[in-house]
Amino acid sequence: MTMIAISGVLLMAAAALAALRIPAAPGIAVSIAVGLLAMVAVHAHTTLRGKFAVWAGILSGLGLKGNERVLDLGCGRGAVLLAVAKLLPSGRAVGVDIWSTSDQSGNSAEATERNAKAEGVADRVEVRSGDVRALPFPEASFDLVVSSMAIHNIRERDGRKSALDEAIRVLQEGGRLAIVDFMVVDEYVEHLRLRGMQDVELRPLGWRFWYGGPWLGASLVRATRPAL
Ligand SMILES: C[S@@+](CC[C@H](N)C(=O)[O-])C[C@H]1O[C@@H](n2cnc3c(N)ncnc32)[C@H](O)[C@@H]1O
Repeated sequence: MTMIAISGVLLMAAAALAALRIPAAPGIAVSIAVGLLAMVAVHAHTTLRGKFAVWAGILSGLGLKGNERVLDLGCGRGAVLLAVAKLLPSGRAVGVDIWSTSDQSGNSAEATERNAKAEGVADRVEVRSGDVRALPFPEASFDLVVSSMAIHNIRERDGRKSALDEAIRVLQEGGRLAIVDFMVVDEYVEHLRLRGMQDVELRPLGWRFWYGGPWLGASLVRATRPAL
């Protein structure tokens, strides 16, 4: 939506320059078109390849043993859920979602289950319907909680804080949290530190996770639940 809005404003500006017969108008219009095409190309790369490659690096950096219980908050059709499931031959990957089709097209529990079968990991994947602000799991149920581009969809700041509190609640002591998101990640870092999480760090993920440009770049937030 942001890209469409920026495109509209820039094209209106180019049309106004052309209408005023300003000599530089064609050059400006070409520059705008090239810029917009570059934004579209970067966006397409992120959604089709970049986010998968970046998450593969994040997951391999976690050094999983293969028997962990992992929860994916807002798993959607399973991009991260299935990638982590492949690293868990004797573990379990659980995805929870409200299946909003405005946040992801074709979003449904059935679609994610079909994808799990197609990727050969259905035996270790469980898909649940639920809101990340009130998770349907007992305390300390997971060794790792991941989430990709999901929590920012909760509009109210208090709702996003509840999602983080729930992630902490379902993590066992020493369990880890890895969230990729944009726009509101500083807020996550502040809240996780306030809640006593350890080793809280924020790392921008670079151009392979840009949604059109650096102004919509995703970052990784990592933290560990302290052992008592
Ligand atoms: C942009 S999609 C990302 C999906 C997936 N994580 C991925 O990276 O492909 C955001 C997902 O968050 C889910 N979502 C949004 N708000 C949620 C909430 N309050 N509880 C659970 N899931 C939510 C949406 O239904 C959607 O599947």
